[in-house]
Amino acid sequence: MPQLPLSSEFAHRNAIQAKPFVKWVGGKRSLLPELMRRVPTEFNNYYEPFVGGGALFFALNNDAAIMGGGGVFLSDINADLIKTYQVIQRDPEPLVIKLREHAARHCKDFYYDIRGQHHLDDCVEIAARFIYLNKTCFNGLWRVNSRGEFNVPMGSYTNPAICQPEVLRACHVALRHVDVRLRDFRKLDAAEGDFVYFDPPYQPLNATSSFTSYAKGSFGEREQTALRDLCLELHQQGARVMVSNSDTEFIRGLYSNAVFRFHEVRAPRMVNCKAHARGAVSELIITTY
Ligand SMILES: C[S@@+](CC[C@H](N)C(=O)[O-])C[C@H]1O[C@@H](n2cnc3c(N)ncnc32)[C@H](O)[C@@H]1O
Repeated sequence: MPQLPLSSEFAHRNAIQAKPFVKWVGGKRSLLPELMRRVPTEFNNYYEPFVGGGALFFALNNDAAIMGGGGVFLSDINADLIKTYQVIQRDPEPLVIKLREHAARHCKDFYYDIRGQHHLDDCVEIAARFIYLNKTCFNGLWRVNSRGEFNVPMGSYTNPAICQPEVLRACHVALRHVDVRLRDFRKLDAAEGDFVYFDPPYQPLNATSSFTSYAKGSFGEREQTALRDLCLELHQQGARVMVSNSDTEFIRGLYSNAVFRFHEVRAPRMVNCKAHARGAVSELIITTY
């Protein structure tokens, strides 16, 4: 059973707090105050099965008063993302060196050269490619083709933050005793007293405006329904569950069981290529408590 990290002590000493090491579509940094205020005051283990950039995990980790003494279990279905977490968890220094090299060589040709390296074996190379592409690609998207190959074009940033050693080191400390796994959200073994935060790919507001693809395969109504069923099961087992999703009729209908409470919140919507279509939208935080 993993022990909780003591990273808030480290973070205060070093003035850098752990935070997401990637820009992640659907990342929850802007919703953090709304999420934090709804986290139960006490729980045993913490589970985040759609971890992505891990905004809530890192924020909770920086607040020793919220995180109790239980284990932390983070997972996601994106293999490169999880390998990157594991590299940072083990030792961030080889990754820092590789990212410095990538940053020094960054240009259009280098971007497409790295983008074409779909079958790397070395974990540090995979993690460096993942972070480099995330920081330099268009809008920080992670989109893959039917063969699972990353295919986002280069973005146009003047000075992308490719290598952030202090952030990686703070994340390393935060992740030291955490269980990080590649797995589907359905493979979850939370139990009574545990807290689970689900941040799935959102149900699209309409067919073209939203981005829901983070890995090969899609997240449609069948997956949203399976997630709702899992929430009910976990509730029956005595775990507390918080879910975020878009505010649509489908999601409201799906979670209409009296077990669920709806909290409407406003969130900036970033992933839209048309500037006029960005702005605040209503989202739902759904809790079983
Ligand atoms: C909305 S994002 C999570 C964002 C995260 N909360 C953050 O702050 O960055 C949804 C995540 O779900 C993951 N995902 C998609 N389908 C999944 C599945 N079937 N099982 C587990 N994770 C999945 C994606 O890879 C993506 O990282």
